[in-house]
Amino acid sequence: MKSIVILISGRGSNMTALVDAASSLPPTRIAVISNRPDAAGLEFARQRGFETAVVDHRQYAARNDFDAALAEAIDAHQPDLVVLAGFMRILGEAFVQRFSGRLLNIHPSLLPAFPGTHTHAQALKCGVRLHGCTVHFVTPSLDSGPIVIQAAVPVLANDDEARLAARVLVQEHLIYPQAVRWFLEGRLSLDDNGRVLLAGELPTEAALLSPRGS
Ligand code: GAR
Repeated sequence: MKSIVILISGRGSNMTALVDAASSLPPTRIAVISNRPDAAGLEFARQRGFETAVVDHRQYAARNDFDAALAEAIDAHQPDLVVLAGFMRILGEAFVQRFSGRLLNIHPSLLPAFPGTHTHAQALKCGVRLHGCTVHFVTPSLDSGPIVIQAAVPVLANDDEARLAARVLVQEHLIYPQAVRWFLEGRLSLDDNGRVLLAGELPTEAALLSPRGS
């Protein structure tokens, strides 16, 4: 039996997509941890019978102390994989090293474009024609690390932030379960240049262009 811990901070739609895809994953025990006691996703996780925990960042004066408490809560589940799913705290280097190689994040842009927050506003401001989302292994630098899978969507003339975010989110919910499945099946590895290989090859299906206007 595999074990994953999903870290959330808010509504948890990516967590929900992962949970809904569980039947296509190898048998996996799922636990959910939030840094916010009021995260909407926690209630969903409880209703689905998953173990949940809260490590409230506001209880810790120093970031390292929060990171250590979070790491301890994660280690209690001895996970094969830790999945950041809308987890909105920056994690320190020691934390990232501790889970190195088994820590995935989803970011709502085609990295390395638009790290940080407000990615959809940034994309609209820059006038890019393609935007999207990225699943990557986490390294100590913010929103960087070996890319596992990306999905691109068109940016349309009448887009505002909400419309663009919704179009990207549809793709997030497809690529994150895919990446987690690959990981749990043992199909992901890194080449000498730090690029992710899928079953030993550069993944050809990594760019999923969604139909225009979807
Ligand atoms: C998602 O769009 C995710 O990509 C983004 O937060 C949202 C969380 O939604 N994550 C980041 O911006 C991390 N840098 P969700 O709680 O419904 O999954």
